[in-house]
Amino acid sequence: MEKKIHLSLCQGTSCPFNNSKTVFEKIKDYLRGNNLENRVEFSNAQCCGKCNNGLKMEIDGNQLHAVNSDNVSTLLDLCLQTNYYC
Ligand code: FES
Repeated sequence: MEKKIHLSLCQGTSCPFNNSKTVFEKIKDYLRGNNLENRVEFSNAQCCGKCNNGLKMEIDGNQLHAVNSDNVSTLLDLCLQTNYYC
């Protein structure tokens, strides 16, 4: 059985001001559109205390900051399809 990738998006107190709800929906659409729902466990995350760095996404323990609705698809391509960035 293939190991699942753990992907989370911060929903702490600051990240909603950085459009986290929109980005959350974009991630869900991305996973569905790329048939990754069975490979990726997607959930909300808590604040890590680095709110000034922008919206936080975490993939298998690697934190990415300043995630937004414009760059999230590219980041997911790099991390989930090529393992380049993460
Ligand atoms: S609320 Fe998201 S990193 Fe602090």
